[in-house]
Amino acid sequence: MRGVLLAGGTGSRLHPLTTSTNKHLLPIGGRPMIEWAVEALVRANVTEMIIVTGPEHMDAFRELLDDGSRLAVEHLEFAVQERPGGIAEALGLTESFADGVPIVLMLADNLLERSITDMIEAFERDPSGARLLLCEMDDEHHLRHLGVPVLDESGQIVSIIEKPEDPPSHFAVTGVYCYDPSVYDVVKTLQPSGRGELEITDVNNHYLSRGGVAFDVLQGFWGDAGESLEAYAQVDEFVTLKGANNPA
Ligand code: DAU
Repeated sequence: MRGVLLAGGTGSRLHPLTTSTNKHLLPIGGRPMIEWAVEALVRANVTEMIIVTGPEHMDAFRELLDDGSRLAVEHLEFAVQERPGGIAEALGLTESFADGVPIVLMLADNLLERSITDMIEAFERDPSGARLLLCEMDDEHHLRHLGVPVLDESGQIVSIIEKPEDPPSHFAVTGVYCYDPSVYDVVKTLQPSGRGELEITDVNNHYLSRGGVAFDVLQGFWGDAGESLEAYAQVDEFVTLKGANNPA
């Protein structure tokens, strides 16, 4: 498996913290946020990875991470996304890096208490289709800002609704996704959504339309530090106390 870390976007929900820097360089638990995402992959034995970010802060990422060896990365590449055209657009920029190998895509503003090793190993045993990581969540207000799966009576995912006004279940789709190499063909079929982005939820719904999508339900804390200033502060507090990517 190879890793794709997304660290682009506007970060506008964290203004003014992100007025002059990239969200993923802000501190969380005493480290730049991006380092926790790199570590999440390394702890799951994914040591070849690419980081996608915008042109403005690319130099800062290179200066911080260099060749990645400080964090036990064996191969590190960078790709520039000229404009924030969506998560799926950013993913599409990494096709030559993936080079036909299954990938794990991680949004670098997602912080997890527990390691993602079990999910990665499960996908490695059957590296076809897609595998998602869900988080059980009762807070409807929060769910309205996320991707939310529609589940059938047997608990399988039927479809996913992005930022639903009326959340169809009590699960959120987190920003950790495993895909087989056909994901790059799926990205090429996408049309921009109402907000002008190529949506990762459309990628996942494409996989769902051609068969089931596997998933795990995470244990422990999960936070999207880019969601709001309040969420950023909560994630920072949690990670400062408990760390992240801890063994199960
Ligand atoms: O955090 C989980 C959620 O992430 C999922 O539940 C949603 O289904 C998914 O769409 C996504 O929603 P967000 O609204 O949180 O996505 P956001 O625009 O904040 O981008 C998430 C990450 O992807 C962030 O680390 C920046 C990066 N990104 C985003 C865009 C739009 C890029 O690298 N390039 C982009 O063009």
